[in-house]
Amino acid sequence: MRIGVLTGGGDCGGLNAAIRAIVIRAAHSGHTIVGVQDGWAGMVEARGEPLSVPAVAGISGLGGTILGSSRTNPDKVPNGVERVRATFQTLELDALIAIGGDDTLGVAAKLAAAGLPVVGVPKTMDNDLSATDACIGFYTAVERVMSACDDLRTTADSHHRALVLEVMGRHAGWVATFGGLAGGADVILVPEQRTKLDEIATRLRARRDAGYSSSLVVVAEGAEIDGIETQTAAGQVDAFGHAQMVSRGLGEALADALSRATGIESRAMVLGHLQRGGPPTAFDRILGARTGAAAMDLVLAGRFGMVPVLRGSEIVPVPLSEAVAANRTIPLDLYHLADALTAPA
Ligand code: F6P
Repeated sequence: MRIGVLTGGGDCGGLNAAIRAIVIRAAHSGHTIVGVQDGWAGMVEARGEPLSVPAVAGISGLGGTILGSSRTNPDKVPNGVERVRATFQTLELDALIAIGGDDTLGVAAKLAAAGLPVVGVPKTMDNDLSATDACIGFYTAVERVMSACDDLRTTADSHHRALVLEVMGRHAGWVATFGGLAGGADVILVPEQRTKLDEIATRLRARRDAGYSSSLVVVAEGAEIDGIETQTAAGQVDAFGHAQMVSRGLGEALADALSRATGIESRAMVLGHLQRGGPPTAFDRILGARTGAAAMDLVLAGRFGMVPVLRGSEIVPVPLSEAVAANRTIPLDLYHLADALTAPA
């Protein structure tokens, strides 16, 4: 067999470990992997080359994806789905493994429902795919947030400031909650729980009055705070209809508002794509390897329309349609625990 593999959507730690596992697993059973370039764009435009075992040697520790990625949606490209179908012929593919989050796997689910031999692998640093306990890329992002918190604390302490760290997360506060908890944040703000500027200001004042020299606020880019008005830049939506959240400037707006409300000098930092780049954590490399190998096994068994997910400590196959059915937001009890473990004032 010739099996295509693509990575779609935002890159993240652990993608290369998944690609490596797929290529090695295929080679062991005498099959060829074709690396499709730049996500669904490569399937629309028939861009792909065979990937050899030597080509994937030593890539597990690399961030990003050696295949390139894009947010191309075949549904939004003229004749896109027909062109994807044609690429199966042009590149002589017997099957396709799509590594991605809800957008990329949403396309995979539709193609599988239309009869194409497609299998998925779940990745997204946002960790918001339903059906899996964790996605490739999540713990790498958490690690970056944690170490940013550690580093920001010393400068915040030195200047007796409040530091607002804006992290990714449009609809889900997984990265903010886990990163903030690991990094010892004093306030964590997520899209799932609307808050008020006054309440945050009160917490910061109480901390100052109790003698703490600094406060660290971790805010997800998609959080909603009464008293802070922000807007995403007009017209900047991707092919899946998502607005560019960083253009809201929530972290900056919050730091300004907190300075005015409390008199505590406040600064903002947007962590941005540092959450997605650099060497993946061991967890993401191992999850990438396990789910990549499991996806290859599903292809070999002819079980299309499926995606291997993490359930507890096991990797189990579930239908793609189940994995993309709903956005998995953070359970509020977990968020409230993280919030309750911030230092009391
Ligand atoms: O892939 C998801 C994500 O990391 C979101 O959390 C974030 O809002 C978005 O990507 C940023 O996208 P881009 O890299 O296209 O600016």
